[in-house]
Amino acid sequence: MIPTNVSLIYAMTPNGFIGYDGHLPWPHLKKDMKRFRDLTLHNTVIMGRKTHLSIGKDLPHRENLVLSRNGLSLEDALKRATKEKIFIIGGSEIYSLSRPIVHTIYQTIVCHDFKGDTRFPFEINTKEWSLKDADMTTDENTQITLKFNVWERL
Ligand SMILES: NC(=O)c1ccc[n+]([C@@H]2O[C@H](COP(=O)([O-])OP(=O)(O)OC[C@H]3O[C@@H](n4cnc5c(N)ncnc54)[C@H](OP(=O)(O)O)[C@@H]3O)[C@@H](O)[C@H]2O)c1
Repeated sequence: MIPTNVSLIYAMTPNGFIGYDGHLPWPHLKKDMKRFRDLTLHNTVIMGRKTHLSIGKDLPHRENLVLSRNGLSLEDALKRATKEKIFIIGGSEIYSLSRPIVHTIYQTIVCHDFKGDTRFPFEINTKEWSLKDADMTTDENTQITLKFNVWERL
C-alpha cells in the first residue's frame, strides 16, 4: 500500500520542460508560487541536491530534506520526515526516484513554450492516475494560462 500522505508537486510547459540551466524555465509566476506555498507550508519537502542549490536556501516554515547520493537517501528521508504531509518537490531525478511511492500529484501546466533542458520524467497515464481536480487561471503579469490539475493514484 502506498501511504496517502506522500504527494509530488511540479510545473511544466506543454512540452514537459521543468527546468532550464539549473533554474525554472519561466519568470516568476505569482499564482503558481502561491499554490506551491499554500500546499507545502508547515509540511515536509523532499528535493534533490540540484533543486536545493537552485533555490539557494531552505524553504522557510517547512521541514527541508535534501537528497544526495553521498548523503540522505529517499528511504531515509521518508523515515526522518516528521510533518503530516510529505511533498516531493523535484527535480527530474527525484521525481523519477519517488514515482513508486507517490499517492497524489499536483501538476501545473504553464501554457507557453519556454526553452528547457530538463523534463518531467514520466507520463501521467489514466490507467494509473485519476484526475481529481482541474482548475485554470491566468497569471496577471505575463498573461500566461496556468492549468492546475490534481491526480490521484488508482
Ligand atoms: N518546474 C518544477 O516544478 C521544478 C521543480 C524542481 C526543480 N526544477 C528544476 O529541475 C532542475 C533540477 O533537476 P535535476 O533532475 O537536474 O536535479 P535534482 O533532481 O534536483 O537533483 C539531482 C541530485 O539528487 C541527488 N540524487 C539523485 N538520485 C538520488 C538517489 N537515488 N538517492 C539520493 N540522492 C539522489 C544527486 O545528488 P548528488 O549529486 O549530491 O549525489 C543528484 O545530483 C532545475 O532546472 C530546477 O530548476 C523544476
